[in-house]
Amino acid sequence: MVQDQLLEIFKSKSARDINSKRHLIDVDNFTPDEIKTIMQTTKLCLKWMDTKLAPMNLFAANLVGNLFFENSTRTRSSFELAATNLGARVLNLDIDKSSVVKGETLEDTAFTLISMGVNALVIRHSQDHIQSDLSKILPSDVSVLNAGDGITAHPTQALLDFFTMSQIAGDLTDKKIVIVGDIKHSRVARSNILLLKKMKAKVEVCGPQKLMPGADELKRMDVFVQEDLNAAIASADFVMALRIQKERLQSDMQLSFEDFQKQYQINHERLEQAKSKAKILHPGPVNRGVELTDQLADDSKLSLIRTQVRNGVAVRMAMMALLFSRRPC
Ligand code: CP
Repeated sequence: MVQDQLLEIFKSKSARDINSKRHLIDVDNFTPDEIKTIMQTTKLCLKWMDTKLAPMNLFAANLVGNLFFENSTRTRSSFELAATNLGARVLNLDIDKSSVVKGETLEDTAFTLISMGVNALVIRHSQDHIQSDLSKILPSDVSVLNAGDGITAHPTQALLDFFTMSQIAGDLTDKKIVIVGDIKHSRVARSNILLLKKMKAKVEVCGPQKLMPGADELKRMDVFVQEDLNAAIASADFVMALRIQKERLQSDMQLSFEDFQKQYQINHERLEQAKSKAKILHPGPVNRGVELTDQLADDSKLSLIRTQVRNGVAVRMAMMALLFSRRPC
């Protein structure tokens, strides 16, 4: 039984350590052993999803508040599904119709929901580090789960990407992952780089100079910058294409999508020319015809995009289960 196996995992030191952290702010909060426990829990949650059972009854005492200050399809829907799969209840706050529009602060919004019984806040926000700041002032029985902050972190995306690649390659030690495109504005890239390096994978980044972080940040990231896309993908195990973040581009940046497409688009011709056997990931939403061609995005032999989305529900179930295991029914 999946639920019995979950209860066994919760007894492990690593699961108890994850639980004692209370929050999910970014992947650097976890040790490699804890990441392995998150992956093991995700595998069980996926097994549960595959059997299409009724919601679990372990977590009915939990009430999750979804607060999305930026648009989202995948993350918001999968956090909601994950919580309901676990048997928790979900409150989706419609930010545009809430008192946030009247100027209410995030702190007041959070405490208002907590007063109503919410014990976990899933937050997406354009402001960097806002979930981390909030987590420091909340009562000790409330968890914050970061669903993406500014350009800083998107921990559940990195965890689901890691899980998806591990399903194919097993241990990712020394596997080469090339991240292509708008690294500068990407919280997905930042969380992925932290996680992949922690788990001893080789990471290269590739993209136009205008879409690269500054030299100091690249040095801190400790990743290899490969300017030649064909060289990068030739020996890659996985290629992760990133969305060009139109909403975060400065108006004076003058990025030509046509030039980007010519030099950095991942497509069948380029993969064949480079004799690449890499599988393709993309966090979504895809700017079709820019980062990837339609044909490649929809190629079920090479593209992992739909698998990533499905795994996203399981990884979010796993994270909430591990954080909620201190307050079962
Ligand atoms: N990958 C991702 O964060 O997608 P959404 O913006 O749709 O949640």
